Amino acid sequence: MKFDIAVLPGDGIGPEVIAEGVKVLQAAGRKFGHEFKLQYGLIGGISIDKHDVALTEETLNMCRGCDSVLLGAVGGPKWDNPKAKVRPEDGLLGIRKGMGLFANLRPVKLFPALVNATNFKPEVVNGVDMVVVRELTGGLYFGKPKKQWETSRGRRAVDTMAYSEKEIERILRVGFELARARKKKLVSVDKANVLQTSRLWRQIAIELSAHYPDVTLEHMLVDSFSMKLIQDPRYIDVAVMENMFGDILTDEASTLAGSMGMLPSASLAGVPRENKGIFGLYEPIHGSAPTIAGKNIANPLATILSVAMMLRYSLALIPEAEAIEASVEAALNGGYRTFDIMSEGKIKMGTKEIGDVVVKGLGGGR
Ligand code: IPM
Ligand code: MG
Repeated sequence: MKFDIAVLPGDGIGPEVIAEGVKVLQAAGRKFGHEFKLQYGLIGGISIDKHDVALTEETLNMCRGCDSVLLGAVGGPKWDNPKAKVRPEDGLLGIRKGMGLFANLRPVKLFPALVNATNFKPEVVNGVDMVVVRELTGGLYFGKPKKQWETSRGRRAVDTMAYSEKEIERILRVGFELARARKKKLVSVDKANVLQTSRLWRQIAIELSAHYPDVTLEHMLVDSFSMKLIQDPRYIDVAVMENMFGDILTDEASTLAGSMGMLPSASLAGVPRENKGIFGLYEPIHGSAPTIAGKNIANPLATILSVAMMLRYSLALIPEAEAIEASVEAALNGGYRTFDIMSEGKIKMGTKEIGDVVVKGLGGGR
């Protein structure tokens, strides 16, 4: 089959990890007989440098014309002035919002070979395998008013946490559907003891659960969830939460998988279903890591695993996705590591080199 894929490498290590993701994608294409037509675009700081905005209408339209989007990372010290009118992050938020990508899936899975790369006791993390469902186009990130201003008694700033019933319902549905396809256990994370948005969230979760009698729904307050996540991570299978909670907790959760460099993500415009593609954007959860950019040391596995998620959710190429995941796992079992997941006795590799190992493991030539 033939697919159009938009590729937005972005800033810092973005282009380096994307190059490996693309290499693996093309290898999968050769092996399984698909043609992936790539269309490159700018996002983030590199777009600001060229066009004065972090995301142009052209880039957005190009993405709209494709089957899915593969994105690296945005940002860097060059664009970090707090007074700047535009920020690289605006590009990322703009594309998420602009394409209606409200459902962010962040699987947190510890490959058995990486137990020693984590800071946890094996008996705590062995077998960690969960999906965090993060609401991505609402909440504290997007609510209005959102501004800074000066008053006679000093400067003030406000951000707003706002959610509509529709926004809450559609993300909870994603949580319920995923839970149904997995262990039938859904944890809904909120702060209902303090926040109105959370009280509405909890109410809607309870109402929706009537339509999912096969799924056990549990509510957890976000502070208590943050503790459970590292104290007893295997307790959690699917957890659904608002935008900012999901941002914070997935960085925390990444420590369970050994490194941020291991965590992929999918941002979808609807409820994922097996064997039916849905438009989505795929990116590693890590940032642009400017301090290690250009050194060929970044871990590309999160991006490669994001490519696998793209094949699964947007292109409905399930065996292809599984083959990539199996090749990543085989590389790890073979002892190959980037610096961030290195442990004693393993083989340290650069970005390109570990990408080559995954391509080789996949087969398909070149
Ligand atoms: C993430 C990142 C982004 C976010 C930043 C870069 C805007 O931290 O994808 O988790 O906060 O959503
Ligand atoms: Mg984040």
